[in-house]
Amino acid sequence: MSLRHRLVGAARQRLKETLRPVVRRALAPSRSSLPASLWGLEFVPGRGLCLEGVSLAELTQRWGSPLHVVHLAALRRNVERFLAVPPGRAGGCEVYYSYKTNPVPGVLSFMHERGVGAEVISAYEMWLALQLGVPPERIVYNGPVKSDASIREAIERGIGLLAANHAEELDVFARHAAELKRRPRVAVRVSTGHGWTAQFGTPIAGGAALAAFRKARELGTLDVVGLHAHRGATIRTEAELEGFVAAVLDFTDTLHRELGLNLEVLDLGGSLCTPTVEHVEPRAWRLNQTFQRDLPAPDAAAALSIERYVARVVEQVESHFERRGRARPRIFLEPGRAMTGDTQLLLGRVHTLKAGPERTWAVMDMGINHAECVRNEYHQLLHVDRPEAQLAARPYTVVGPICTPGDTLYNAVRLPELRGGDTLAIMDAGAYCVPFATSFSFPQPAIIALDNGEERLLRRAETFEDQVAFDATQPPTAFRAAS
Ligand SMILES: Cc1ncc(COP(=O)(O)O)c(C=O)c1O
Repeated sequence: MSLRHRLVGAARQRLKETLRPVVRRALAPSRSSLPASLWGLEFVPGRGLCLEGVSLAELTQRWGSPLHVVHLAALRRNVERFLAVPPGRAGGCEVYYSYKTNPVPGVLSFMHERGVGAEVISAYEMWLALQLGVPPERIVYNGPVKSDASIREAIERGIGLLAANHAEELDVFARHAAELKRRPRVAVRVSTGHGWTAQFGTPIAGGAALAAFRKARELGTLDVVGLHAHRGATIRTEAELEGFVAAVLDFTDTLHRELGLNLEVLDLGGSLCTPTVEHVEPRAWRLNQTFQRDLPAPDAAAALSIERYVARVVEQVESHFERRGRARPRIFLEPGRAMTGDTQLLLGRVHTLKAGPERTWAVMDMGINHAECVRNEYHQLLHVDRPEAQLAARPYTVVGPICTPGDTLYNAVRLPELRGGDTLAIMDAGAYCVPFATSFSFPQPAIIALDNGEERLLRRAETFEDQVAFDATQPPTAFRAAS
């Protein structure tokens, strides 16, 4: 590197250091952390953070670290809220959990036992739902890639709703239906202009969705009962919800007017937020990286709650059909993150601390290999052992075990002083953490459930042998490592 480059680099660094405290103070977010009590956690001196009287640090001693902990009381609460009939209404919504969000059989069965159906997007997920005893009529089959074999199976078993992701799929459904001499219950997925479009759904704008419904009916072998729409972009406010639902309802009028179609099912997909999680804007990341300015924590109390979401959906759909004198369709919801996001936490230990000039690296045994979504969402990080102690003078950069700078969970986060062996908790790990996890160099951790203070294993930790179980070349037994 030339002398000029070195001088410019050093000047930049000095400028950053000078500006850091000024920027941190001037642009401090109004909220930079969320209290542990939001998740029902209590601090017990000498035992650290406890859930239902169970010390989180002791959980890692018994079950290993890292460790996923599913809080069943929280999951029960969320299920009940989604299934509740809003006050003053004759009926509520039918709920189909989005399998891809947290495809752990122990978690799925818990919801199924309480009246939740399955929303699946692959042959594997449909197989899993059937294996878990979900009746075929309680399964919604979505997704852009459905194998021919799985479409045939869905039709033969009488799956509750087979949703065509794009108009081209209707021909495939119709061909299999004719061959099997069955009339599957079909929905057409549309995109509304609110949220995702791309490969998902047929756009209402420009008439493509209407043409798809017309075609679906003309094919003659499909029972066209439903309209499917999934917003994709997370819904945090009533205004976002209402705009999306209004666009869908408007299209139901078009279907009635143009095709005389009275829908039996209105499937509004998922997308409701987890109140304590929020997408972090690029500017907030940059300020955090460059000036160690705290990330803004979400305003959980202001986020649309499950109760309010269900009440607003039912109210908006009912009043729409009432005004038009038409029967209100059954309302299907496919929650993912809102159902399980805040019902699971991930525990990990500080492997070592590495001091740098302006920060301390906390090198953890958990990383983006377990919690990839922390890279673009706010997830509260809690010091499990001494959460009430004074904050350390310098921020921590919390990194994982994978050998890449990309394995950074938190760029600059304020925590009470850490020591090697301390336990940290990443909150809201119940959506998209487990399915997006990789076994990159480190096997996956165990998943346990906590129910009324009782601990139960849902999934054992992966072993070294699991990592090579599918390989044609197996290590000689004598040299296999004990994991
Ligand atoms: C069709 C469909 N339904 C439901 C969901 C669940 O979404 P969320 O976790 O945002 O509620 C998804 C997620 O991508 C989806 O694609």
